[in-house]
Formats: sequence, C-alpha cells, structure tokens
Amino acid sequence: MLLTPIIATALWAKRLDAAAVLRFGCSQIAIERVDPLVNPGVVPSPHVHQIVGGNAFAATIPSTDVSQLANCTSCTFSEDLSNYWTANMYFRARNGSYKRVPQIPNRYLDGAKGGITVYYTSPYDGGKVTAFKPGFRMLAGDAAQRTKGGITKWNAICFRCYNAKNFGGDTGAPCSDSKVDSVELPNKPCPGGIRTTIRFPTCWDGKSLDSPDHQSHVSYPASGTFESSGPCPSTHPVRLPQLMYEVIWDTTAFNDKSLWPADGKQPFVFSQGDDTGYGQHGDYIFGWKGDALQKAMEGSCFGATCNTLKSQSYTEANKCTVKRETDEDVDGWLQKIPGGMSG
Ligand SMILES: *[C@@H]1O[C@H](CO)[C@@H](O)[C@H](O)[C@H]1NC(C)=O
Ligand SMILES: *[C@@H]1O[C@H](CO)[C@@H](O)[C@H](O)[C@H]1NC(C)=O
Repeated sequence: MLLTPIIATALWAKRLDAAAVLRFGCSQIAIERVDPLVNPGVVPSPHVHQIVGGNAFAATIPSTDVSQLANCTSCTFSEDLSNYWTANMYFRARNGSYKRVPQIPNRYLDGAKGGITVYYTSPYDGGKVTAFKPGFRMLAGDAAQRTKGGITKWNAICFRCYNAKNFGGDTGAPCSDSKVDSVELPNKPCPGGIRTTIRFPTCWDGKSLDSPDHQSHVSYPASGTFESSGPCPSTHPVRLPQLMYEVIWDTTAFNDKSLWPADGKQPFVFSQGDDTGYGQHGDYIFGWKGDALQKAMEGSCFGATCNTLKSQSYTEANKCTVKRETDEDVDGWLQKIPGGMSG
C-alpha cells in the first residue's frame, strides 16, 4: 500500500490518527453545458462543466434522495451516487482559437477517467461531523469572481503548478508552498500540469437542504479554517465533513510559449470565461446511500480504502455514463468557448 507517501504528500495532516480521510477518484460522466444546481432545466446552461458521480445527473435533479434515483456511479465507493462538477479549462492559442485541456487521474488513482478527486475529511481534532442529508446541495465559489477575495480568504481555491512530470513539487497542503502554489492561475508554464483545489464550506444551518444562492445555508468557519479547527458561526452551528475537490489539468501539450498569446499572459481560461482562476467553483449534490458517509466519517477510513464502504474497480466505475443533453462540440479547436465565453 502507498499510504505513507499519501500521508506525506497528498494528505498533509498533522494528526491523521484522529481523522477519517476519504480520498477517491470519480471518472467523467459528462462534459457539457448543463447545471442542475444554478440553472436547473436550462439546456444549454451558460458554461461548460465536467460532471462525475451518479447517473441520476440531468438538467433537473429532483430534490429527493438522489441515491434512490441513480443506478451506478463513476466513483470508487459504489454507495456514493452523488454528483460533483466544476468548470472546464480551455487553452487560448495565439491565433485566438480555444482547445479544451484534458484531465488526468490524480496521484495513486490511476484508472480514473479524468474527472475529479473527491475528499471527505473529519476534523483533525477528533471532533464529530454530521454527514449531509438526502436532498442536500451546495455551491462553492463564484463563477463571476475575477479578483482576489471571495473564497480565496479560506484558502478554498488554490492552484498547484507541478514543476516536473509525475506531480513534481507535490508537497504539503494546497496553498502552503509559494514556490508551486497560487490562488490564481499560474503565470508560467507548468511542466507537470496544473492542479486545482476547491474546498467547500464546512458549517451548516442544520435545516436547509439548499438556499436561493446555493450558499447561504452553509458557511466557512467563523475564524481560522476547518483544518485549524476554526469554530462554526452561531448561525451555522453544525459541523459538516470537509468536502474538497482536486482536478488535474494536463496542460503539458500547451507549454510551448510560442503558442501563448503575444502579450505574454498565461493562456488558460475557465469555461465561464475566467482567465484569472478566481472564478473557479464547484457544485455538489449529495447522494450517498443511507448512513454510509456518516459511518465512514466515524470510522478510520483512509484514502480509497474503507472497510465500512463498498468499493468498485475503475473498470466498473468507468462504465457509468449519462446520455448527453446537448450536442455542441466542446472538444475541437473552437473559435469561442461554448456559450460564447471569452477570457
Ligand atoms: C434506475 O433503475 C430504475 C429501475 O430499474 C429505473 O426506473 C430508472 O430509470 C433507472 N435510473 C437511471 C438513472 O438509469
Ligand atoms: C490556431 O492554432 C492552433 C495551435 O497552433 C492550431 O491547431 C489551430 O488549427 C489554429 N486555428 C486556426 C483557426 O488557425
């Protein structure tokens, strides 16, 4: 088992013995303009997303128990029928054309088809968390953000510029090493690609499964961070697991600076037309079966190994897909990012 290097690199926890840490891969089930959280029923939605998880994903997802609606998942833990999604990254060539940047599996998760690495963590102080309830959904970040601020305040968005192939420079927590980390898109070529990290709020009002902005029913800690055991505000007293996404963008085919825009600016643009990275965001619809997630958070699960959870191989996970709801090209050399977004 590769647990020791995982501890040393990807998980960085100081007192891991006190925490349950799930870290697993979820393969792509769709890349298209659909967003059942922010733009339910709108096809196509304003910008492209990459979606992973259960096959109940659609332009509209009923706010009932999603684990009852889906029959398969692209994630390692087969009781996790949740959906997770983020914006996509595009490369803008010097001639003004765009090309979608492919994704690769994360470290130690070979076999996943692109997609998202999902983490659920219980507090390092050994404290309890309450798992999400059926119908729960939330949004982290703001697609319209273009300046520092927003959720960068909680280190909730971070980019790592791998300085060599095979996750070169991958040490320490996200945003802990200014040599490889930044809160905006890196301003130089990254020989091993770019990793995006998105941390979700960890405090809940204890009542609402959603809210009009998909954010006000949850909150980041009142001070500090989840990792530093920062307290939840009195308005949102219920401590949730720390949900975190990582996405590895394989930018290596685009590192030739002669292809970069003539003004020397970095060439990557998120699908909402964001070339800063501050608008990186993540969407979540909870869909674990029964109390599987709660039990896992109370046990000593670690990485992609958890004896209270059922697992499946990537071969099985990669069979789970959904029917596309749009037929536009999201992958070729494009004059505009789908939806007419430009950076
Ligand atoms: C899952 O299976 C049920 C029962 O066979 C079926 O009604 C439903 O449409 C399936 N859902 C999906 C998302 O395929
Ligand atoms: C723009 O540049 C890219 C990269 O060199 C190339 O593959 C693409 O065909 C070009 N597009 C046009 C419209 O010239």
